[in-house]
Amino acid sequence: MNRTGLSIVAFVIFGFVAATANTAFAAGKLTLYCSPQIEWCQLMVKEFEKATGIKVAMTRKSSGETFAQIKAERRNPKGDVWWGGTGDPHLQAAEEDLTQEYKSPRLPELQDWARRQAEQSGHRTVGIYAGALGIGYNSELLQKHKLPAPKCWKDLTKPDYKGHVQMANPNSSGTAYTTLATIVQVFGEDGGFEFMKGLHKNINQYTKSGSAPIKASARGETTVGIVFQHDMVTQVVKGFPIKIVSPCEGTGYEIGSVSIIKGARNPESARKWVDFALDPKIQTMAAQARAYQVPSNASASPPPQAPDLSQIKLIDYDFKKYGSSAERRRLLKKWDDEVSTLPR
Ligand code: G6P
Repeated sequence: MNRTGLSIVAFVIFGFVAATANTAFAAGKLTLYCSPQIEWCQLMVKEFEKATGIKVAMTRKSSGETFAQIKAERRNPKGDVWWGGTGDPHLQAAEEDLTQEYKSPRLPELQDWARRQAEQSGHRTVGIYAGALGIGYNSELLQKHKLPAPKCWKDLTKPDYKGHVQMANPNSSGTAYTTLATIVQVFGEDGGFEFMKGLHKNINQYTKSGSAPIKASARGETTVGIVFQHDMVTQVVKGFPIKIVSPCEGTGYEIGSVSIIKGARNPESARKWVDFALDPKIQTMAAQARAYQVPSNASASPPPQAPDLSQIKLIDYDFKKYGSSAERRRLLKKWDDEVSTLPR
């Protein structure tokens, strides 16, 4: 081969190697912000990497914290996808232009409530699971302290429960924000804040993560926890003496959601993640991580242990209002100013 021939061969080989490396680089990474329980985040990462070959860098943070992080990084986004966590801050992120539109081909397969979440946000987010809020208690501790079993939200403000109730901080936790918004919807604005002040007197600790109170209750560190009912099921399945209460006044619920972050560096991997997360086979796997939310794909099988939402007195939770930027900010500030600062 003459010199020209050699250079052509070298050029072709170099071009091929560069193109392959480039494809691998572009399609090969994903930075995931994950808000459900860590065990489920880890399972999803493992399965996604196996199915796509895409390498995932994941961090688990609560819903409110993740929202704040995405907002703080908006001029230089570091994350690609925000998967899971309560829907309200996902709606707020959509309204504040922190996330981007994507219509997964799996949309028609989803339950109405999951599609409604997408429509409400201009398709910047979509529902992946649902779960109802409740009151959980450790029956052994309850007996030990000779406390009555709570049946209603109102019960939790009784002096009997002083120091016995735990919930998360609504600023960091989506679970706790759902609680605050639920209470305001059940009792009205004034009645709701009176309730939150009464409850505050009985709170032993506001945790950062939403499910922490029921884990603490399982360990015997608090008698009562306000968390999602599926998080209580996880503790029951592990063998702890946790009882699940659907409050008599009715209770709120979450639509756990997934959003692609605006300015994502790996947009193609991000879209693949969303399609993957809406796949009925993948949603059905959640029970392996002891995650008992109700899946959004109508063909996914809900875990047999998942609380049956049709048997729970659910309020008509106003996602549009409580997921709006102005309302979420207003409620959190009011809680900070009027409730969290009170003596206990
Ligand atoms: C738990 C629940 C999820 C919920 C999440 C919110 O992990 O199982 O259904 O979306 O809490 O977490 P956060 O810490 O924001 O309350």
